[in-house]
Amino acid sequence: MKPKRIALFPGSFDPFTNGHLDLARRASVLFDSVVIAVAHNSAKSGLFTPDERVEMIEQAVRDIPGASAMHFSGLLVDCARSIGAQAIIRGLRAVSDFEFEFQMALMNRRLAPGIEIAFLMPSQEFTYLNSTLVKEVARHGGRIRGLVPPLVEQRLIAKFTATRAAARAEARATANRRGGRADKPGISGRGTANRRAGSRRAARALGS
Ligand code: PNS
Repeated sequence: MKPKRIALFPGSFDPFTNGHLDLARRASVLFDSVVIAVAHNSAKSGLFTPDERVEMIEQAVRDIPGASAMHFSGLLVDCARSIGAQAIIRGLRAVSDFEFEFQMALMNRRLAPGIEIAFLMPSQEFTYLNSTLVKEVARHGGRIRGLVPPLVEQRLIAKFTATRAAARAEARATANRRGGRADKPGISGRGTANRRAGSRRAARALGS
């Protein structure tokens, strides 16, 4: 029996985007099994926990044959060995991705010469897309439909709606403590007072 061809598709996936999904689909055509592995970096706290990311990925790839998700900490090559992967998949969107990917690929090859690194290009419509941009747009209430799988969209909207509501409540509380309007400048309202004094001085100088 032919051995199963297993690919590991690693990343931060905070969150998983439709660009990642596109790559997972492409990889699934080449490999029997594609394991999407969320890197758990304890020094870097993401927007979503590794478990939340895995849950969203599992939901997004449920119709891709052989695709699954997990999270790992430590070296990528150790994770690849532990699942018996012959290849590591990385996406290349633009030339700007190349330098970092090249360094990482060579380091991984040095650490695990038997594991191939395969680069796949996402569909052109996703070449500008990354998780950071999606979060930025969602944070400010922008439309992210079509950029991320539906569950990721829901979770981003829920997270940032709560954050914006908390920020508005905080702004209202601050305004109330200042004893009035949210747009009142500074604690003592000096901005308006200074502008009025300036206008009076200008009027006196003009002799009016
Ligand atoms: O989505 P990202 O942030 O570009 O993914 C980078 C990732 C997670 C693949 C990379 O940081 C990684 O492999 N981390 C695991 C630790 C490791 O093996 N580092 C050495 C890589 S040469």
